[in-house]
Amino acid sequence: MVGNTIQKTVTADNQNQAIRIRAIGEGADICIFSGKKYEGKSYLAKKLLATVSAYLIWDEQREHGDIATVTHDLRQIVTLWNGGTKKISYQPIDKTKHNFRMFCKIAQQLTNAVIMVEEIRLYQDGKNLVPEFKRLLDSGRFRGLGIWTTSRRMHGIPVDLPYNADHIFVFKQYRPEDLDYLSKFMDGEKVQQLPTLEKYWFLHYIGDTGTTEIHKPV
Ligand SMILES: Nc1ncnc2c1ncn2[C@@H]1O[C@H](COP(=O)(O)OP(=O)(O)OP(=O)(O)O)[C@@H](O)[C@H]1O
Ligand SMILES: [Mg+2]
Repeated sequence: MVGNTIQKTVTADNQNQAIRIRAIGEGADICIFSGKKYEGKSYLAKKLLATVSAYLIWDEQREHGDIATVTHDLRQIVTLWNGGTKKISYQPIDKTKHNFRMFCKIAQQLTNAVIMVEEIRLYQDGKNLVPEFKRLLDSGRFRGLGIWTTSRRMHGIPVDLPYNADHIFVFKQYRPEDLDYLSKFMDGEKVQQLPTLEKYWFLHYIGDTGTTEIHKPV
C-alpha cells in the first residue's frame, strides 16, 4: 500500500502556463485526454509522462515504445515490474475486451505508478466501464495509481470517468453532442471555442477548482 509515500508532481511549463498533476503516490490524479485524431492527445500525455518514474501503458496503437520497455505478453508485466522495469508499454496482440480486463487486473496489483489506457471508448461494456477498469478508477489512488486515458470523443464515455477526473484536456472537436456534453461541467464559453481552436491548442479543466483554461501547445 502507499503509506508515507512520495507525492510526484508532473509539471509541464508552457511560457506562463503550467500543468500540475499529482501523477503517482498519495492523491494520484485521474486524467482524460480528448479530442479528434492527430490533435495531440498522446503527444501531451507523453510530455507529461516524461517526468514520471513509473508507468504502465495499454498501448493499443504502439505509440509509446520510445519511452518504455515494450512487451506483448501480459504475463511479462509483473515479471518486468518486479525486476525493476517501471516504464512499460504493453502492446496487445489480443485487443479484445477480455484481454483488456486481464490487463486491468494486473494493473491493480501495482503501486505508485501511472496506468495509462489509450482509447478507453473501445473497451467499454455498452454504456459502462468494464468492472476491472472501474475498480482501478475507484480505488487506484489508494495504491498510489494515477489513471490516465485518451478518447477521441467524450460523448458516450461513462460519466464515472469525467465526474472523477482531476484533469481533462480537450483538443479541437466539432460535434454538437460532444460540446453539449462538455459544457455540463466545463466553462461553456470556452467549450464553444473548441471547433475553431488552433492545432495542438487545448482546454484544461481542473476538477479541484472547476476551472477551465485555454492552453497553448506544449
Ligand atoms: N504540441 C505539439 N507540437 C508539435 N507537434 C505535435 C504537438 N502535438 C502533437 N504533435 C504531432 O502531431 C501528431 C499527432 O499527435 P498525437 O499522436 O498526439 O495525436 P492524437 O490526438 O493522439 O491522435 P489519435 O487520436 O490518432 O491517437 C504527431 O505526429 C505529433 O508528434
Ligand atoms: Mg493518440
